[in-house]
Amino acid sequence: MKILAIESSCDDTSVALLEVTDTGAVVIAEKTASQIEIHKKYGGVVPEVAGRMHAENILPVVEEVMKDNDKPDAIAVTSGPGLITGLLVGVEVAKSLSYIWGVPLIGMNHIEGHVHSVLLPEPGSTEAIPFSTIQFPALALIASGGHTSLILMKDFGEYELVGNTRDDAAGEAFDKVAKMLDLPYPGGPKISKLAETGNIKAISFPRPMMKDDNFDFSFAGLKTAALYWLRDNDLDGDVSINDFCASFEQAIVDVLVAKTIRAQKEFNAKTVILAGGVSANTKLRQTLEESIDDVPLLLPPRSYCMDNAAMIGVAAYHHAKKEQFVNWKEIEANPNWKIYQ
Ligand code: KG4
Ligand code: ZN
Repeated sequence: MKILAIESSCDDTSVALLEVTDTGAVVIAEKTASQIEIHKKYGGVVPEVAGRMHAENILPVVEEVMKDNDKPDAIAVTSGPGLITGLLVGVEVAKSLSYIWGVPLIGMNHIEGHVHSVLLPEPGSTEAIPFSTIQFPALALIASGGHTSLILMKDFGEYELVGNTRDDAAGEAFDKVAKMLDLPYPGGPKISKLAETGNIKAISFPRPMMKDDNFDFSFAGLKTAALYWLRDNDLDGDVSINDFCASFEQAIVDVLVAKTIRAQKEFNAKTVILAGGVSANTKLRQTLEESIDDVPLLLPPRSYCMDNAAMIGVAAYHHAKKEQFVNWKEIEANPNWKIYQ
């Protein structure tokens, strides 16, 4: 089955055409128009600007992906959660295509997309990853700019929230601390690069809620600790910016890994999934890999960690098989949509 997927929930206008069968997904064509250079000027994503850019970019991106291909068997579009300004653009275009082509439409959840990013082959590869690679129950740590959640996946389409951030998301903490350091948006990759040559023990940042008897997270206190440290100390003294970044990154990684390992044991998860923008973080990938020994850890290819349409396409397959379609007149963008009960 050929699925055309559209993702525009934040600052990437992404479109992908996939061939998906029971054995897995292969990407036929894909294109993403990133808005990072524009939002950098403002130090973060400005919703109104994002909406306008999506509207400008989306049709040329769809055209580029579809230029050598016939119409698909289904259209999948992210309809939530995310920025309403971006979601509306993707949903309107998907609706129009569904109507014009007479092709069924699926409203997709962005977080469900991230979970499925681990089933995408490396770009350019035609070797599908079998759906059975995910053994149930699976535990997914989704860490991005907007979310930090531990989700128990009991089957395709069946999710339960096990833990969530009570304030900032992990990516948001990276971005806000990067701003304090005058590093450009998005801050996660910059902090992580500087951290490579820093000393993780230079500053002993707090590990919020790490030992608490639950699976929730909190990163606001860590962000404040970083702010106070910068107020009271100099980075050109004994501690370099690299040391600061390494110590900060280590604190986030320690908390994410400790809670994930505990949840994996508690729920007897047979597979662990790490996804969302922060899953591009090398330290997090490596530490989780070293810490989980008895079950497989699934990681997305690096180019599918950040928002992309291909993950929406692979996640849509099981909905398409169950004919969970929505009439083009009825689909609605829902910025607060949650996949779990
Ligand atoms: O999933 P995503 O593309 O967008 C959302 O749905 O939020 O995630 C973007 C987030 C940003 O906060 C960015 O700083 C973070 O992912 N990020 C990283 C790294 N690469 C991206 N955080 C830490 N280390 C990285 N290497
Ligand atoms: Zn995302």
